[in-house]
Amino acid sequence: MSLIAMEPLLPTVALLRSRAAELVREAADVGRHLHPATLEAVTELLRTINCYYSNLIEGHDTHPIAIERAMAGELSAESATRDLQVEAKAHIEAQRAIEARMSHEPALNVCEPAFIRWIHEEFYRRMPAEFTVVRNPDGSREELVIPGALRHFDVRVGQHVAPDSAELEILLQRFATVYDPAVHLARDPTGALALTVLGAAHHRLLWVHPFGDGNGRVTRLMTDAYLRRAGVGAHGLWTLSRGLARARVRYKGELAAADELRRNDYDGRGPLSQRGLDAFCTFFLEICLDQIRYMSGILAVDRLTERFSAYCRAREGGLLSEAEASPGPGRPRIGFRPEATRLLRTMLAQGPIRREQVEDITGLADRTGRRMVRALLDEGLIASETPRAPLRLRFPAHVAPYVFPGLYGSGLA
Ligand SMILES: Nc1ncnc2c1ncn2[C@@H]1O[C@H](COP(=O)(O)OP(=O)(O)OP(=O)(O)O)[C@@H](O)[C@H]1O
Ligand SMILES: [Mg+2]
Repeated sequence: MSLIAMEPLLPTVALLRSRAAELVREAADVGRHLHPATLEAVTELLRTINCYYSNLIEGHDTHPIAIERAMAGELSAESATRDLQVEAKAHIEAQRAIEARMSHEPALNVCEPAFIRWIHEEFYRRMPAEFTVVRNPDGSREELVIPGALRHFDVRVGQHVAPDSAELEILLQRFATVYDPAVHLARDPTGALALTVLGAAHHRLLWVHPFGDGNGRVTRLMTDAYLRRAGVGAHGLWTLSRGLARARVRYKGELAAADELRRNDYDGRGPLSQRGLDAFCTFFLEICLDQIRYMSGILAVDRLTERFSAYCRAREGGLLSEAEASPGPGRPRIGFRPEATRLLRTMLAQGPIRREQVEDITGLADRTGRRMVRALLDEGLIASETPRAPLRLRFPAHVAPYVFPGLYGSGLA
């Protein structure tokens, strides 16, 4: 095999351009009219949701509430559950590291082999030992997955035999040159052109399968980084992995179809099928657009406020049972007082508040007010960086089913 084996690398842009342009427009509007601090709270929840879905695609089902508990340092005593929790935490920390790096290096080529290996390293150095060993395809040996290191053995994904490990460096170098977002953004600063090629980059990175394990998740993290770099990430207000997970049968089918060899004279000029690649890119943009529209819908300010208020009222009335919206076993759910609703709704609309404002907003005298704030902090509905710092709203995973219907927990394809 040689470099040519990965061709074609670019899709037929004309087929994708108008949808990509639509996507650019709609991504700019997600969460419009919401307070920036409220959007920040959504972004934080979506890191958990993104992690949940990307792992779910690999068959690792770690409930968002279990993920939050892991982030708070509360791990299950049962080893299989604990491993999944540690894995999820590793994923979120890797994602945070990527976001931090991208804000310092805005012009980063997210397709560089060094960056892709760094993503893998950030993820795998935090993995439980159990998940750093894979069996090679004939099952004869166990191979160790070293964080950030390219594989040195052969792999097979379904019908696809990934390239020889000796060729990984050169394939990845070519990958970095062709897909470099700077190249596509220079030609089209709106990001639409970059989006048309991103599906292809997503596929070809999985086709190369550079690592012994973790290719799926690392590729999705790289793709998220690319979306950010292209200016359509909407600050983490939508997640690609939710869409891919909900369509995961089709996702794998489209990936496999794009692995196929060229069929005939009408199927491009490279060894791989142009039509398969175009179809994957079309699918990819469809999923992105669908996710952006879903988030725009649930973040529409009036309806969000209405659902949030309804949730608070249900809590006031004690209408939610433990089982319906529990933050986890062993965590008694407090009834709300109407003052709590008032406080939370104020934060939703106006952002963080200073502690001295609690009395003004709720009319509760010192000690009662403080006790209420403490209960809301304990449940994770609000947060504060220090005991005196302002209070900000949070959306913990156990409120998501009420406030963001369908975000997780609905049926998968
Ligand atoms: N036919 C295919 N061609 C290319 N990529 C594929 C194909 N089928 C699945 N994939 C991708 O490979 C990933 C799973 O393959 P595999 O389990 O070998 O990868 P991995 O390295 O284990 O990734 P992870 O550890 O994140 O699961 C899937 O998430 C999917 O994105
Ligand atoms: Mg795997």
